[in-house]
Amino acid sequence: MSDPATSLRTEGLTKSFGGVLAVDRATVELREGKINGLIGPNGSGKTTFFNLITGMIKPDAGRVLYRDRDITRHSPHRIAHAGIGRTFQLCRIFPRLTVMENMLVAVRRTRLRELLAGLRDKGEVERARHWLRRMGIEHLEEAEARDLSYGQQKLLELAAALMAEPELVLLDEPAGGVNPALIDRIVSLVRDLNAEGRTFLVVEHNMDMVMGMCDHVVVFDRGAPIAEGPPAVVREDPRVLEAYLGV
Ligand SMILES: Nc1ncnc2c1ncn2[C@@H]1O[C@H](COP(=O)(O)OP(=O)(O)OP(=O)(O)O)[C@@H](O)[C@H]1O
Ligand SMILES: [Mg+2]
Repeated sequence: MSDPATSLRTEGLTKSFGGVLAVDRATVELREGKINGLIGPNGSGKTTFFNLITGMIKPDAGRVLYRDRDITRHSPHRIAHAGIGRTFQLCRIFPRLTVMENMLVAVRRTRLRELLAGLRDKGEVERARHWLRRMGIEHLEEAEARDLSYGQQKLLELAAALMAEPELVLLDEPAGGVNPALIDRIVSLVRDLNAEGRTFLVVEHNMDMVMGMCDHVVVFDRGAPIAEGPPAVVREDPRVLEAYLGV
């Protein structure tokens, strides 16, 4: 059965690290054009699942299909180019580069050496300003990234991910360590970006955020989905409570 509204699909995706089976035959289908949530206890394989989709680690078995094209084992660069962007659980930005420099290195066309020599593509700079404005951090353009608050660094990371114009955006714990006011802002940004046609997959432990923001939620336990559906259904599912309570 082929659902036309599928942007990303994994089939039997599997990865172990030594004796630890991190992702275990995970078959998952995302809803295209929707905000998909991925929840599950600590260590249930969510970040590894992201790393497998984005090509940062190679699966032991299984496939990743994006818009019906097999992208398993493609390089991270090629996968980004295909339209999949991501942020990291622990912010990954260059602390000693400025905000603008971080935005520009996120785009392959601007190489670090050119950047440091002061060579900047005007079009890229304009696009970077556009995303910084959308995130509300345009005034920090010339600040070094390490001087930003943690929440501002998260916004910068999201802005940088958007430089490649992804159609599918994976967010790994966007609310982790972020204050409530900023969480609200991130939620409304994700909603706006989704309304513009981007599909999201959001890993998040903040249940209020997940349940309030997502259209469809997939629950992982021990490396594979154990339940999925609309937030209101998933939250009442006894298997989900069991997974969290470790019964
Ligand atoms: N590079 C690695 N080397 C060895 N073990 C790893 C590696 N990456 C992940 N693991 C293990 O794989 C399992 C899944 O980890 P993963 O980080 O994917 O979980 P998670 O669901 O993202 O957890 P959290 O909610 O705490 O972020 C864990 O047991 C973890 O210790
Ligand atoms: Mg994780």
